[in-house]
Amino acid sequence: MGKEKKKSKSAKKQKDSKFPKEPLFLDRNESQTGPVPEVYKFLKKTDMQLLSWYSRDFMKGIKSALSKKIADEYGFDEKYVLLSYGSEDLLKQIIHCYVNPGDKILIPREAWWYYKKVASERGGTNVEYPMKKGTEDGIPYYLYDVDTMIDIYNDTKPKIVVIASPNNPTGNRIDYKDLKRFLDATKDTVTMIDEAYWGFGSTDNSYVKPYIDEFPNLVICRTFSKLFALAGFRIGFAFAGKNLDVLINFTTRYLGYNRVSEKLGEIALDNLKWYLKIGKQYEKDKEMMYREFGRLKGFVPFKSYANFILVDIPVDIRAGLKKYLDERNLRIKFLDEDAFRTEARLSLGTKQQNKLLMDTIKQYCKEVNWK
Ligand SMILES: Cc1ncc(COP(=O)(O)O)c(C=O)c1O
Repeated sequence: MGKEKKKSKSAKKQKDSKFPKEPLFLDRNESQTGPVPEVYKFLKKTDMQLLSWYSRDFMKGIKSALSKKIADEYGFDEKYVLLSYGSEDLLKQIIHCYVNPGDKILIPREAWWYYKKVASERGGTNVEYPMKKGTEDGIPYYLYDVDTMIDIYNDTKPKIVVIASPNNPTGNRIDYKDLKRFLDATKDTVTMIDEAYWGFGSTDNSYVKPYIDEFPNLVICRTFSKLFALAGFRIGFAFAGKNLDVLINFTTRYLGYNRVSEKLGEIALDNLKWYLKIGKQYEKDKEMMYREFGRLKGFVPFKSYANFILVDIPVDIRAGLKKYLDERNLRIKFLDEDAFRTEARLSLGTKQQNKLLMDTIKQYCKEVNWK
C-alpha cells in the first residue's frame, strides 16, 4: 500500500514531465554518452576466439596487445605498463603488494573514500594529509599543500603515498612543479598517482615518461572507465618506475586479462579525438555551472578538471534539495563523510542533462524562496 502511494506520488511528478522516467545517475562519475560508436560495432562482430580462447600474447613476450600499444604510444618498454581490472584493482594491488601489518600509507584527506579502506586489509594504517582551499581563475579551488605533505611524510615515513590528480571529489589537480618537489623529497617511497580522471581538463602527457624515468618508485594509474566511458568493462592501466619489479610481477596475469575489453581499450585509444569532443562540451557545461551556482545564495562550486563538480550547498536547504531532486529522478551524490558534510558532487552528463539539473536546482531555490 505504502509503495503504491509512493508510486502514484512520483507518477504525478513524472506526468508530462521533462524529468527522466528512471533515475538519472549523475552520482558516480560515469559517462552518460557511452563509448565511441566503433566500440559497439566491434562488439556486434566479436568472435569465438576472443570469447573462448586464452590470449597467446605471452608467447610474444608481452602481457597484451593493449599494454604494448600503450607502451608504444608513451615511449615505454611494455614491461613497465601494467594492466588491471579497473584502476580500483590497481590501487588495491599496489597497497597489497607493498604494505605489511603496521605500515602506514599517506593519502589525501579530501579524497575518494576508497583510499581510506584498503590499507586496513593488510593491517596497515592511514595517515592523511590535508588540502587547502584557494582560488583558480577566480573560482574556489582545492590545492595540494606540498610543504605540509612533505612535513607529514618526514614525520611518518609511510610505505606508500597516494596522490590523485584530478582528485575526486574536489576536482583539483596537482601542479607539476609541486609534484616534482614532492617526489624529490620522497624519492625512496612508492608513490601512486591516481589519474582516473585524466583527459577532461587537460590532455597533457608530456610529464609521464620523464617523471617515470626520473622517479623509479613512481606509478601513475589510469583507467578506461571515465574519459573512455568503459567503466562496465573494468580496464585500468599504469606506468611503473624501474624499481617496481615486485609490483610488475605481482600484477602480471600469465593467461591475459579480458580479451574483449583489451580490444575495446585499443579501439578507445584510437579514437581519442572523438572523446575529447565530449570533454569540450563538459568544459562549457562546467563554466555554465560555476556561473549559475555563483548566482545562488550560499552555493559554492569548486573549479574542476574532471567530469564532475563539487558544490558546497547551504545546510538550510540541503535536505530539501536532495528530496526535490530525488523525486524528479535526478540523483547526485550528497556527500556525508568527515571531510565533506555539506557538499555534493555532480557528475556531468549530456548538455541537456546538465541544463536540466541546473534548472531544477534553480527552480527549487525559487520555490522555497531561497535568496
Ligand atoms: C579517484 C578514482 N580513482 C579510481 C576510480 C576507480 O575507477 P575504475 O576502477 O573504474 O578504473 C574511481 C572511480 O570512481 C575514482 O573516483
